[in-house]
Amino acid sequence: MPVTIKDIARKANVSITTVSLILNNKDKNISEETREKVKRIVKELNYRPNVLAQSLITNKSMTIGLLVPDITNPFFSETARGIEDILDDNNYNVFLCNTYNDINKEIKYIDAFSKRRTDGIIISSVNAVDKSYYEYLNSLNIPFIILDRHNYDIKYKNCVIIDDYRGGYLAAKHLLELNHRKIGCINESRGLFNINERLRGYKAALKEYGIEFYENITAAGDLTIEGGYKAALKLFESSGVTAVFACNDLMAIGVYDAAKELHIKIPDDISVVGFDDINFSRHLNPGLTTIKQPIYEIGKAAAADLIYFIKHGKINEDIKILEVSLQIRESTKRLNE
Ligand code: RIB
Repeated sequence: MPVTIKDIARKANVSITTVSLILNNKDKNISEETREKVKRIVKELNYRPNVLAQSLITNKSMTIGLLVPDITNPFFSETARGIEDILDDNNYNVFLCNTYNDINKEIKYIDAFSKRRTDGIIISSVNAVDKSYYEYLNSLNIPFIILDRHNYDIKYKNCVIIDDYRGGYLAAKHLLELNHRKIGCINESRGLFNINERLRGYKAALKEYGIEFYENITAAGDLTIEGGYKAALKLFESSGVTAVFACNDLMAIGVYDAAKELHIKIPDDISVVGFDDINFSRHLNPGLTTIKQPIYEIGKAAAADLIYFIKHGKINEDIKILEVSLQIRESTKRLNE
């Protein structure tokens, strides 16, 4: 049986209140002798405070739930680092759950966090949330921040996102400025709002250059290396593209695999641009040109917004949109006339 405050009080022959005051460093009116005696007994009996019991009294668990759709994707593990650094500085413990892109798992974990009186939740959803999902979250009366995967259509608040449209535009614009005119795009098949925004930005750049968009120069991946590889094989078979924009870096790595299999050289035969700028990207050979998301800062901003929400009972601003930038490396090259 775990040792309780009652056991400490009995052995020290003092009241439970005295023990509690000493354990919570509110013991200025208690004699030095009693303080030392209680602390010695706490050590002797190896007393461990019951944080669940404490949370019922303070109504604070000092725990935060973090949900990500794919922990094997470095984007999410790098985001988690920013989140954990801020929350740890504020004495919160983070419980990370990987939802494996399964919305049922996501709802199950949110429900579990809510029932365990978690102080708040940060969610990168498996799919762009819709109105009913957002209303469900609001019904739980638990502070939450939506991270990364968003949906402008429902104009929901308390989310930290990036300008996906501008990222897609910058990726295509860079290739157009290198004289590429047949630029393939590998997006994703689940209709994620933020990824579709990247495709929209890519199309806008093509239009600016008077280039007609044809479906046959796009292929759907699933944000994984394997998905990018399969989509690239399709693109390389028939589209005659001289460049590929992959809507995330893992799929761009899949493009490298497909190019290697088909003896296509990057960037001599095909230029490649990714999206995210995860840590691996600079170490690829050739280094991947990509759209840089401020990944660590996204995590820090989401954690800071959640702490504000918990402390003030409301969010400090509706939608935080962080800027992206073009990170040029060796995977893109000018196409000679
Ligand atoms: O690589 C994972 C992708 O899904 C990232 O681009 C991130 O924005 C997430 O939505």
